[in-house]
Amino acid sequence: MKKHFLAILLLGSISLTAQTIAPKITIHADQGKNVINKEIYGQFAEHLGSCIYGGIWVGENSNIPNIKGYRTDVFNALKELQIPVLRWPGGCFADEYHWMDGIGPREKRAKIVNNNWGGVVEDNSFGTNEFFNLCEMLGTEPYLSGNVGSGTVEELAKWVEYITSAGDSPMARLRRQNGRENPWKLKYLGVGNESWGCGGDMTPEYYSDLYRRYAVYCREYDGNKLYKIASGASDYDYNWTETLMKNIGHRMNGVSLHYYTVKGWNGSKGSATKFDKNDYLWTMGKSLEIEDVIKKHIAIMDKYDPRNRIGLLVDEWGTWWDQEPGSKTALYQQNSLRDAFVAALSLNIFNKYTERVKMANIAQVVNVLQAMILTNETKMVLTPTYHVFNMYKAHMGATNLPIDIQSDSLSSNTRKFAAISASASKDAKGLIHVTLANIDPDKEQKITIDLANVKLSKVSGTILTAKTIDAHNTFENPNVVTPAVFKDAKIGKTGLTVTVPAKAIVSLELTPNL
Ligand code: AHR
Repeated sequence: MKKHFLAILLLGSISLTAQTIAPKITIHADQGKNVINKEIYGQFAEHLGSCIYGGIWVGENSNIPNIKGYRTDVFNALKELQIPVLRWPGGCFADEYHWMDGIGPREKRAKIVNNNWGGVVEDNSFGTNEFFNLCEMLGTEPYLSGNVGSGTVEELAKWVEYITSAGDSPMARLRRQNGRENPWKLKYLGVGNESWGCGGDMTPEYYSDLYRRYAVYCREYDGNKLYKIASGASDYDYNWTETLMKNIGHRMNGVSLHYYTVKGWNGSKGSATKFDKNDYLWTMGKSLEIEDVIKKHIAIMDKYDPRNRIGLLVDEWGTWWDQEPGSKTALYQQNSLRDAFVAALSLNIFNKYTERVKMANIAQVVNVLQAMILTNETKMVLTPTYHVFNMYKAHMGATNLPIDIQSDSLSSNTRKFAAISASASKDAKGLIHVTLANIDPDKEQKITIDLANVKLSKVSGTILTAKTIDAHNTFENPNVVTPAVFKDAKIGKTGLTVTVPAKAIVSLELTPNL
């Protein structure tokens, strides 16, 4: 294993084209011990641009086909993904959201201005009842992001009561008045969002004290168990994690981390669809760097929590490009095969750190940033990223299998990385699932997958690729990047040989001989 990495490092910088190392993935099928938290495949929906309005919610009177106000096409596509958890209502929006504006008869709800996202009018027609009912219909766990920045302890405490109290309490009575007799279940409660920035511009010390107050008064009603999440660091801010671990410690169940694959926060972030090979390789390097960032945050958490009781939740991640020219709603961006790679690589990494990484929520589910789905009025299209989530979903709740990867390397600026990214898991039925990405934009990889003593009787697979790395789906041509049956996996004596074309993502299902 060590030898392989040495080879990668020594040879990687020499060439992007010559085949220097025989690509091989060794899967230790007998060494799996950690279940991949299904919440790693989580999603995020903010009141931002057309994520909620137009993307998810059109209202019952819309001419767009809908189920109780949720657009039917989007609802069905999300149902297919089996999304395990949905974070809402922000993002930055969460710290200016006053939940009482969004309950009761819709025509009477307060109209406010969405100060974070373009000053558009927010009519609050999608509020608490609409969100929790959606989660119930999708069979997804709600993740509520509470207002700490501009709200009060009382306000958040009452929101929890409104949602979860079964008794004769004031907020439970208000909920009943609004047509919902039984409480919903609420597990994931975020105490603020980006409290170092749009969520209140706080220091980690000040936030830690505030968190402690909020946590006391967010009660657990009638058997409902809360998993309280502190607003964590951005990217490389290790001091934020250190301070929270020290000052909040086990008062929190989890701490978040935000990591965007973005060129920078000032100036152009680059086009989502017009880029060259160097841009592509930069994107791969930047997205893979999340592994190092996760490792460093985990190392800090290990110091204060050696028994691994506090989770790290990457509750915002994904690509951030310039807004699509001509689009009318904030942070609406196209999604190409390059984005699919960012999803594939990131999910492979999250699976590996599943012992500490308890959740991840890609930003965002519809029409915003690295979306699963794009809509325009009556039209809808699935993005390449959607297809990756669908191809990877077999990993949810399966046992992560440790792997070693031997491969050529690629490089971009100072970043050097293996040309192959992979992950493996074993599900409850004993099936082995392998996801792998050949990042090399030019060269196919003939990969040996070594499974030692595991003999296989069957292999099936799916491939996602396209003619060019900037290929993307549009409303007019929705299947430019679409999954196809993968046939280039051959069973051998101790595993299989898989020929993966350049710039392709493959998922395999392996049936071991019993
Ligand atoms: O996802 C878009 C924004 O990015 C979120 O509102 C905020 O939390 C982050 O800065």
